[in-house]
Amino acid sequence: MDQNELKRLVGQAAVKYVKPGEVLGVGTGSTVDCFIDALAASGIKPSACVSSSVRSTEKLRALGFEVVDLNDVERIGVYVDGADEINGDFEMIKGGGGALTREKIVASAADTFVCIADQSKLVKTLGRFPLPVEVIPMARGCVARALRALGAEPVERDFTTDNGCRILDCRNFMIEDPVRMEQTINAIPGVVTVGLFAARGADVLLLGTPEGVKTMEKTR
Ligand code: A5P
Repeated sequence: MDQNELKRLVGQAAVKYVKPGEVLGVGTGSTVDCFIDALAASGIKPSACVSSSVRSTEKLRALGFEVVDLNDVERIGVYVDGADEINGDFEMIKGGGGALTREKIVASAADTFVCIADQSKLVKTLGRFPLPVEVIPMARGCVARALRALGAEPVERDFTTDNGCRILDCRNFMIEDPVRMEQTINAIPGVVTVGLFAARGADVLLLGTPEGVKTMEKTR
């Protein structure tokens, strides 16, 4: 089974977490694209969706889902999103697709975060995947210097986010204490968001493996 097939499997598995008539939070990425396709095929309709990117919004609307502004919503029941890496504590690196800030905002408004990932994303220590940091354009130089002082090798991505900002990808930066590192990087002036999702990690992990989808729940 190749990686795309595993993504399709977890996308389908996440559909059962969607409650008809409830607002659904939708993340971004190729695994989420599989989830959106599976949701459309299932006929299950959330009352509306709150999307984390222009990309997901366009796909949702093209398939007939209503997409609303987060400000118009009281509560989101479930948020479904992928990850670039996830560890055993369900802490994640996200933002490979550049949507980290909106993803973190929508995730923070949701009761339950369902992470969908193929097995290649499960790691012991976060950091082999370059950690994305979204920055205000005028601050990219000083933020890069601050990240270097923390031991990272930041490289600017040739990409402008949906928020008009830039991304520094931190290479060679293994993260032993994700909660602390999330706080530290978020406190650097000019940082919009770091793609560490540790203070608010996932609640459920649907992991695609050749043996099928493994469902894991966070014990709190
Ligand atoms: C988007 O900005 C990311 O956070 C994605 O959730 C993450 O990169 C996973 O993407 P794939 O499902 O395409 O691997």
